Amino acid sequence: MTRPVDPSTTAARAGLGVGDTGDGADLVAPLNLASVRAYADLASVDEAMDGRDVYRRYGGGNPQRLEEAMIELETVPGRAVPVARVTSSGQAALLLASTLVVSTSRPRVVVVRPCYGGTDSLLSGPLGNLGVRVSTVDLPADGGGDHGELVAAAAGPDVGAVVVDVITNPLIGLTDVPAVAAAAHDAGAALIVDSTFTPPFLFQPFAHGADLVIHSLTKHLAGHSDVIGGVLLVDSTHEASDWLDANARLLGVNLSPFDAWLALRGLRTAGLRIERGSENAAALADFFADRPELRAVYYPGVSGARTAALAERLLPRGRGAMLSIDLAGGRTAADAFIRGLAGVRLAPSLGDVATTVSYPASTSHRALSPQQRVALGITDGLVRISVGIEHIDDLKAEFAAALVAASAG
Ligand SMILES: Cc1ncc(COP(=O)(O)O)c(C=O)c1O
Repeated sequence: MTRPVDPSTTAARAGLGVGDTGDGADLVAPLNLASVRAYADLASVDEAMDGRDVYRRYGGGNPQRLEEAMIELETVPGRAVPVARVTSSGQAALLLASTLVVSTSRPRVVVVRPCYGGTDSLLSGPLGNLGVRVSTVDLPADGGGDHGELVAAAAGPDVGAVVVDVITNPLIGLTDVPAVAAAAHDAGAALIVDSTFTPPFLFQPFAHGADLVIHSLTKHLAGHSDVIGGVLLVDSTHEASDWLDANARLLGVNLSPFDAWLALRGLRTAGLRIERGSENAAALADFFADRPELRAVYYPGVSGARTAALAERLLPRGRGAMLSIDLAGGRTAADAFIRGLAGVRLAPSLGDVATTVSYPASTSHRALSPQQRVALGITDGLVRISVGIEHIDDLKAEFAAALVAASAG
C-alpha cells in the first residue's frame, strides 16, 4: 500500500503538470477564459456535449483543476473518492447541495445553530418560498449538551438534510460532528457539513459521517481576500452524487475561470497558512486567557474538560485560526480596542493571510435585536479574530496595546 501524502503536500502541488506535461510545458495551469469551444462537424459536437469543456457553465477548465485539488484534499484514505463542483460562492454551494437532498417527500432541513447566518437565511428565505421547511436546533453556548440527542429530537421522517458547521460562529464552539451525523442518519437524512473554518488540513468531514461537504473558498482556502467562491463535495456512495453534474449545469452556479485560477494559487499555500494561523490562534488564546479587560475567550477546547476532549478527538492537527474575545467594557471598549490596533484591519470576513477582526453585533448578527444577541452570547463586547501568519510576537504586542486602549475607553 502506498503511503498517503500529507494534505499540505497535495495542496502545494495542486494543478502542477496538469494537461500538457511535455518538455517546456507550463508548470502551472494557464488561465483560459473562453466561454465556448468550436467544432468541425456534428459528430465532434455530439461527442463534446457529454463533456464539460464545450461550454463554460459546465465547469471545465480552470474550475475543474481547482475541483480536482479539493477532491484530493477531502478524500479520506480507504474510502470512496468524492465528487465535487466549485461554485460562484459558498452560498451557491449550499444552494446546490440543497437541490440534491431536499425533495417533496423530505422538504425539511434541520439547521444546527449557531451557524453562518446566510445558511439559515437562504434556506428559510428564498428556498423557503420554494417549499423548503426549516427546523432549528440551538447548541448550548457553553459547549454543553449532547449534540446528537439535540439533533435527534428535531429530525423526523420529513427531514432531507441536517446542516451543521464544524466550528460555530461567532462563539467558536466545536460541534460533535460524528454524533450529529449519527442522529441525521438515524432519521434517514443526509448530513451537510460546512467546513469553512476547518480546511482539510485540520478536519476531513467525510471521515466523521458527512454526506455532503461545503467550503466557502472565499476564506482560508483561497486566503487573500480577492476571490468569492465555494465548493460542494458529495460522497460518491450517496445517491445525491448522481445528480450533482446535472444540477450544477442547470443552476449555473459555476465559478469563473479567473476566480478558480486565483483560488488554486491561494490553495497551494493553504496548508502552511492554516498551520501557522492555528498555532498563532492557540498562542493568542493563551495570551488572552488571564487578561482582566476580557470577560471571555472563545477557542475550541478552552471551555472545560468536555470540550477539550472533543477538540483533542476531532482536531488533533490544530484547532483553527479563528477565536473570539468578549471585552468587559462592551461596545465602547470594542471600538477603542479596534481603533487601538496598529496593523490588524476591521473587515467583515475571515481567512485572509493577515490577521483581521470583525464585530458580529454590527455585521453578521446585525439583524437581531440586542436581546436576541445577548441570548446567543453575542454581546456588545464581542470581537472575532481571524488569525493570520504574522509573527506571534508582533500579534501579541499589537493586541496588548489594543487592550490597553480598550481599558482607557
Ligand atoms: C462558515 C461560512 N459558511 C459559508 C459562508 C458563505 O460563503 P460566501 O460568502 O463565499 O458565499 C460564509 C461566509 O462568511 C461562512 O463564514
